[in-house]
Amino acid sequence: MIRFEGVTKRFGKKVVLHQFDLEIPTGSTTAIIGFSGSGKSVALKHIAGLLTPDEGSVSVDGAVVHELDAAALRDLRSRIGYVFQFAALLDSLSVGDNIRLGFRRRDTGPEEIERKLRESLAVVDLTEAIDSFPADLSGGMRKRVGIARAIALDPDYILFDEPTTGLDPVTTATMDHMMLRVRRESGATCVIVSHDMKSVFGVADRIAMLHDGRIRQVGSVEEMRSSDDPVVRDFVAGRTEAFASPGTRGSVA
Ligand SMILES: Nc1ncnc2c1ncn2[C@@H]1O[C@H](COP(=O)(O)OP(=O)(O)OP(=O)(O)O)[C@@H](O)[C@H]1O
Ligand SMILES: [Mg+2]
Repeated sequence: MIRFEGVTKRFGKKVVLHQFDLEIPTGSTTAIIGFSGSGKSVALKHIAGLLTPDEGSVSVDGAVVHELDAAALRDLRSRIGYVFQFAALLDSLSVGDNIRLGFRRRDTGPEEIERKLRESLAVVDLTEAIDSFPADLSGGMRKRVGIARAIALDPDYILFDEPTTGLDPVTTATMDHMMLRVRRESGATCVIVSHDMKSVFGVADRIAMLHDGRIRQVGSVEEMRSSDDPVVRDFVAGRTEAFASPGTRGSVA
C-alpha cells in the first residue's frame, strides 16, 4: 500500500501539492487524473523518493520514503518499475541493452536476465525489436520498451507517467491492452498518471482526481463517471477548459 499523508510540496513560492492525501491499495490499478501542471508527475516522483515533501509523508508498505537511508531507498526503488513520461531510453544502447542495464546492480545470472528480457519484450509485443536502437522506433514503441524495462525487474509497483499521451488512438488502445496485460501477468500494483479519460476508464479500477494541490474526489470508474462535482464532471467529460487552474488554462493536450 502506498500512502500520501498531508503532503505539501512547493517549488519556490508555487505550492504544487497542498495537504495531499491518497491511499493506493495493494493490488489496485489506481489512476491519478488532473489538468496539465496540476502536480501528477510531482506526486508520482515522491513514491520513488525522487522528490521529498516539504510537509507530510509518503509511505510504501509502511516505510516512510524520505526517512529511508541510501541502502533502503535503493531496495525500495528496486521494487518499483517507473515508466517515465518521456521514455528515457539511452539512445546509444539497443533495446535489449537498455533493458539489461536495469540488472546491473542485481545478482541475476546472465541466462535469467536473457529469459526475463525476452519475456518482458513478449508482453509488449516487441520481441523483434531486441537489437533495434531507440532512434529507429516510433514513439509508441519507445513507450512499450519503457514498460518492458520496468516489468523485466519483477516490481511490486509499477508507476506509469502518461503512458498514452501523444499517441494516436490505435496505439493508445494497444498501450491500454499492454497495461492490462502487464497488470494480469505481473500482479503488480499499478499507478497510472494520465489525462486521457478514455484510457483511464479502460484500465483503472480506482480514479483519483488531483486539483488545486489535493484530491478532489477518489472513487471507482462508475463513481467518477457519475460524479456530481462540476470540476470532476467537466474533466471526465473532456470539457477541460472550464475549471483549469490559473496558468494551466488551455495547456491540456
Ligand atoms: N523540479 C521542479 N522545479 C520547479 N518546478 C517544478 C518542478 N517539477 C515540477 N514543477 C512544477 O510543478 C507543477 C506541476 O508539475 P507536474 O509535472 O507534476 O504536472 P503534471 O500534472 O504532471 O502535468 P502534465 O499533465 O503536463 O504532465 C508545474 O507547475 C511545474 O512547473
Ligand atoms: Mg506530468
